[in-house]
Amino acid sequence: MKDVIIAMDFPSREKSDEFLKNFKDQSLFLKIGMELFYKEGPEIVRAYKKMGHKIFLDLKLHDIENTVRKATLSLLDLDIDMINYHAQGGYNMLKAASEEIENNHKNIISLGVTILTSLDEESIHRDLKIERDLSLKDTVLSYAGLVKKAHLSGVVCSALEVKEIKEKFGENFITVTPGIRPKSFQKDDQKRVVTPEMAREFGSDFIVVGRPITKAENPLEVYREIKREFLGE
Ligand code: C5P
Repeated sequence: MKDVIIAMDFPSREKSDEFLKNFKDQSLFLKIGMELFYKEGPEIVRAYKKMGHKIFLDLKLHDIENTVRKATLSLLDLDIDMINYHAQGGYNMLKAASEEIENNHKNIISLGVTILTSLDEESIHRDLKIERDLSLKDTVLSYAGLVKKAHLSGVVCSALEVKEIKEKFGENFITVTPGIRPKSFQKDDQKRVVTPEMAREFGSDFIVVGRPITKAENPLEVYREIKREFLGE
């Protein structure tokens, strides 16, 4: 079940199609986020599913319970493989999502986003008004608990948090970890980066990799190397 997910952070279908040509007929796990989805709409998801790819639709849903329930239903129609929600939407919102998935579609992986990695210790207290005696790490763990309680499959988190999350919430609680950089690669704007090998050792179920693959001169070669390193083959 472990896999490498490619973050398709492209501004248009034209660009993402061009990138996919590097992989010929290989089936991939692709993450489509707001940039590409809002530009191209559901059709791009249908097209890539038809080509045999798996899709993580990274829209980080966050709204009132009823809206999230209905949005989930619309997205399930696209036969996606992975979907995510902001844990800060609260228990009822997360539960509405997991219920909708359970009622309609059993095999999709549903994830909670705990605290965005762009927020630091200071901003969670200053902006989100999280009490000062609750650390960033404890806040992440607390939100992960909420996600588990609402019966979603797991969380998006840093590979550095995987060990503790698995210890606390069980081996079957799925962890999807971005911020991955092969040893030889520059850091870009990711601060706390982890290599694919370290992610494997920490126990990540899926790693999300964008620029090291999308900006590579030979994306297929880099993808294969990352996959080998992560799967330990
Ligand atoms: O190019 P890079 O490998 O940094 O891309 C990582 C992908 O994972 C991006 O699509 C980014 O939005 C996403 N992501 C992240 N950190 C999170 C959640 C998502 O980097 N906490």
